[in-house]
Amino acid sequence: MLKGKKIAFFVTGGIAVYKAVDLMRELIKKGAEVKVAMTPSAAQFVSPLTFQVLSKHKVHIDTFDEETPEVVNHIHLADWADASMVAPLTANTLAKLAHGLADNFVTSALLATTSPIFTVPAMNGNMYDNEATQLNSQLLRGRGIYVMEPDTGFLAEGYSGKGRFPEKERIVEEFEYFLRKQNTTLPLTGKKVLVTAGGTKERIDPVRYLTNNSSGKMGHAVAEAAWQLGADVTLVTASSLSTRSQIKRVSVESALEMHSAVDRYFNETDVLVMSAAVSDYTPESTSDQKMKKQDQLTLSLKKNPDILKEMGSKKRANQYLVGFAAETEKLEEYAQQKLLNKQADMIVANDVGKKDRGFDSDDNEVIFFTHDHEPKVIQLKKKESIAMDIMHWVADHLEGN
Ligand code: PMT
Repeated sequence: MLKGKKIAFFVTGGIAVYKAVDLMRELIKKGAEVKVAMTPSAAQFVSPLTFQVLSKHKVHIDTFDEETPEVVNHIHLADWADASMVAPLTANTLAKLAHGLADNFVTSALLATTSPIFTVPAMNGNMYDNEATQLNSQLLRGRGIYVMEPDTGFLAEGYSGKGRFPEKERIVEEFEYFLRKQNTTLPLTGKKVLVTAGGTKERIDPVRYLTNNSSGKMGHAVAEAAWQLGADVTLVTASSLSTRSQIKRVSVESALEMHSAVDRYFNETDVLVMSAAVSDYTPESTSDQKMKKQDQLTLSLKKNPDILKEMGSKKRANQYLVGFAAETEKLEEYAQQKLLNKQADMIVANDVGKKDRGFDSDDNEVIFFTHDHEPKVIQLKKKESIAMDIMHWVADHLEGN
């Protein structure tokens, strides 16, 4: 979502400036190009050199420091940015933004900004609660500027209150959500995507189960890619990996639980992606108590429902069904069989016999099998990138898209 985005990062003067360094690094890690401007008081807390070294761009502080006659720096930064973030935002700069003041580099650039602006207020709790600050926040929100709610907790003053700079993870998540909302032309906007992930666990007794090597990385990456492309996403997962709060998460353990969750949401779903490694079998009976050691133990297994196949049999024409094929041999032959047998629109086949891909790896190499196109090989790369390719393919081939 932030990959290739040009972000103007504005820093104003509060104790949370030291946390802004880490936040800026997170934006860069996620692929954004960041240029920084600071108020003179922000520069009292952390040296501009810190931001310059990490962003690899000159940091702007003085409006009249115009080293190149061809450009006016604060206007140039405003025009350059795809989006702006102000973090931390002090009560003082918040008030200036609300009333259109332009008395330093930061406020002048922000007044000239026409792209989306996201702000992270951080200040003393009493300053935050003050009616003036609250009214100023409302003014900004009314103009489409995003004003985050600060955290409540221990403040620099030594007492608790609302005004703390939030954790960078929450800031980035809300920032991405804000940016996604600005873009109404994403290819899956308005579509409901249901994704399954992880390896199911089939209970033998309260402490033992049958499972497989699936980590859930592939399925969680698919859910995230669908979300980034604008979809309304439900993730049915047997994995403990995290998900952003805007993705509806349904945690399950067994294949039967996964089956009933998928069945519950399938009717209202436009796209189902079955990335989960669903156990084909489950113990015929589960012991309520831990089973005692015996000389020999024979487990009797019964078949689990084939979720993909069942959804394939009741799929409507405008629903798009993606299955995976996890194979260790005859990848193409078995994938083609699954495409037909399960009435899927697409099978993403992967070789799970190699260590550098498939189960539990960060990378994967896959082949897309569909009814109307030649198989398409996606070379070994990060699962996040494979997931994007899958969801772009789906968006391009979804009826009515
Ligand atoms: O989770 P990771 O560690 O990131 O690993 C990713 C992965 C290897 C698990 C993933 O890329 C993958 O291949 N997922 C499908 C695993 C699997 O169960 O494949 P299969 O060939 O056995 O099943 C074919 C399809 O039928 C799959 O879409 C599966 O979800 C579905 N199925 C299988 C059995 C069953 N009872 N019900 C099903 O719906």
